[in-house]
Amino acid sequence: MGSNLADRVAIVTGAMRGIGKAIALKLAKEGAKVVVTDVDQEECKEVVKEIEEMGRTGLALELDVTNEEDWHNAVKEVKEKFGKIDILINNAGICDLEEAGDISKMEKILSVNLKGTIIGCNAVLPLMIEQKYGKIVNISSIAAIVSWPKIPTYSATKGGVIGLTKCYAGYLGQYNINVNTIAPGPIETKMLDDVLKKLGMTRDMVCKAVSKGRIGRPEDIANAVAFLASDDADYITGQVLVVDGGYTVK
Ligand SMILES: NC(=O)c1ccc[n+]([C@@H]2O[C@H](COP(=O)([O-])OP(=O)(O)OC[C@H]3O[C@@H](n4cnc5c(N)ncnc54)[C@H](O)[C@@H]3O)[C@@H](O)[C@H]2O)c1
Repeated sequence: MGSNLADRVAIVTGAMRGIGKAIALKLAKEGAKVVVTDVDQEECKEVVKEIEEMGRTGLALELDVTNEEDWHNAVKEVKEKFGKIDILINNAGICDLEEAGDISKMEKILSVNLKGTIIGCNAVLPLMIEQKYGKIVNISSIAAIVSWPKIPTYSATKGGVIGLTKCYAGYLGQYNINVNTIAPGPIETKMLDDVLKKLGMTRDMVCKAVSKGRIGRPEDIANAVAFLASDDADYITGQVLVVDGGYTVK
């Protein structure tokens, strides 16, 4: 088992399943104490069980990323329990199709993907600034870079995540805080399954668009996150790391 993140304390949002769960498990494997957060605490506890089975430490917390009070309580509890917050992974996100003329889903998507990420950064930053240490990784998407049909608000929020990452990175370096973004390509999760079904697309069609010829696994993203959250990436900040098997270059 790795120990690249020994003694680090990490918060991961949207971590009860999919990419967030894989990130939580990978950070724990690398030695971090991992706070597994999502809208359902019971589901988070299942992930913590897996972390404990590895002989590592985890904590399950209910945290709706759009709720400032949830963030306040989470930061307070983690500080009391572990004394610090070294790493924040803003992974929680939602995606839904929007037909032309229908803006009924817009507020919700903006709220989780964009406001949730900004509120999350602001919740941990005072402590990270005080510590003079922090690694933040925000999960964007290749939808911010290339076109996927019928997801205008989702794509805009993911572009926004790149913008806010660069903003924070530009002035937080002086406090030894790194802020980076990962833009995943198609990754095998419930989100992708739902979107493909709604678009009537097959996995075969997606694989043909990916240079590596396969859909990504949540672990492909988790490995990149673990790197950016580690001191091996200490001189990297404000960057967008595209992890898409070559989708955007094909
Ligand atoms: N799967 C892909 O192909 C893909 C591609 C690019 C980017 N992404 C991004 O990766 C991230 C993870 O997505 P996934 O594919 O694992 O999807 P998923 O739907 O499997 O998981 C998303 C998680 O976020 C949680 N969540 C939703 N709203 C929340 C809220 N208000 N507060 C806290 N948690 C909330 C959900 O409960 C869920 O556990 C998202 O930001 C998504 O946009 C996914």
